[in-house]
Amino acid sequence: MPTEPENASLPNLPAASGLGRRRALLAAGAALAAGVGATVADLADRDRKPGHATTSTGAPPPEGPIPFHGARQAALTAPQLPATRLLAFDLPAASAAADREALRALLTAWTRTLAAAAGPSPDPRLRADGAAPRLTSLVGLGPALATRLSLAVPAGLAELPAFPGDRLDPARGGGDLLLQLCAADHWTLAVVAELATTAAQGAGATPRWAQSGFLPGTAPGATPRNLFGFKDGTANPDEDAARQWVWGPPGPHENATVLVYRRIRMDTAAFAALPEEQQNLAMGRRAGDGAPLTGTAERDEPDLYAKHPDGAYVIPATSHVRLTGPRLDGGARMLRRGYSYDDAPGDRGLLFCAFMRDAGQFTRVQNRLAERDALNPFVEHTASAVAYVLPGAPEGTVLGAQLWA
Ligand code: HEM
Repeated sequence: MPTEPENASLPNLPAASGLGRRRALLAAGAALAAGVGATVADLADRDRKPGHATTSTGAPPPEGPIPFHGARQAALTAPQLPATRLLAFDLPAASAAADREALRALLTAWTRTLAAAAGPSPDPRLRADGAAPRLTSLVGLGPALATRLSLAVPAGLAELPAFPGDRLDPARGGGDLLLQLCAADHWTLAVVAELATTAAQGAGATPRWAQSGFLPGTAPGATPRNLFGFKDGTANPDEDAARQWVWGPPGPHENATVLVYRRIRMDTAAFAALPEEQQNLAMGRRAGDGAPLTGTAERDEPDLYAKHPDGAYVIPATSHVRLTGPRLDGGARMLRRGYSYDDAPGDRGLLFCAFMRDAGQFTRVQNRLAERDALNPFVEHTASAVAYVLPGAPEGTVLGAQLWA
């Protein structure tokens, strides 16, 4: 694995991690320079451009209902819709045979429920103005369930190790089954979450946790911003790279992937109080236009070798972009489709949702970040989950058909 020469660390940034430290930080309250106020979150155009993951086998329509059925699950093939809800369930253990039957019944019920909700549903709550809602979903299975039921999942599917600085609440993470719903509005999410929960309970599953998230209004083709004000999702893999690093290899897992979910609390006020120059150095990109510090446009490739006359890297050694770049992982990429959350005063941040063939990639990147990411004084990981994201269910089939092989 390539290694990085050392570099002067960031000027005037706190060295240690921990959300508490930053409260003693700068008093100056420079607001984030970058606004979070554009419109519409339809990334379809952007996703079709080179350098972006279309991640679709059969691109969904840019407007109107998004079909549930397809080779890949629609929450990954469609443009990121602006509202999300993640729901996790446990499947209580009885006998292996009974549990496999319960899982089969649950996946059949979810296929029926989610396909109906995404189409011309008989539920009047999902037919505002007579049209079906724009709704996508994805279903994943936790590593413990896969092991317990000897399911045909990729070898190596496992929980993540503990990372330095983690403050994980087990009640907000983990789970045997994970369902992500994405929609144009929270109304649709509330209704479909209710239908899916009823279906899960009917098969014997119990709710474990739920988490809502949102994106800012974003102009068509633009990258949404996170609550630090930075464009988030710029350096995602294109379809060729995604086939290599995100989706499973040819075979039963070809249109499957692995989700790593992290609920990351962000001290947005302390970060906003940093001078914009320091925010940019911490990220390695500019908040305003999302361009790397070595470039002029968002899509410019970061030049990790560029140096100032004094020998310091232009993109600092501890900047987020340098530490997360694929160069340190033999080119491996993950597909990030994060959402923001805002649950209470002092509890807002990022729902980091990243998809990759092998969750070991997340572990490698997170180990580097935990050690010295310049964002550490402003972030705290509070929940975690891993799930094998099933291939899609083509028309006439049921989610998870390949699990029983
Ligand atoms: C609250 C925490 C985080 C924030 C605010 C954040 C924000 C960002 C931003 C603004 C970028 C640059 C724009 C882009 O390419 O999307 C970025 C890139 C990236 N981040 Fe994060 N991130 C966070 C946590 C993480 C974590 C936990 C990981 C994985 C362990 C991660 C992995 C990546 C990767 C792989 C890239 C792309 C690097 C590249 O290819 O250039 N991020 N992040």
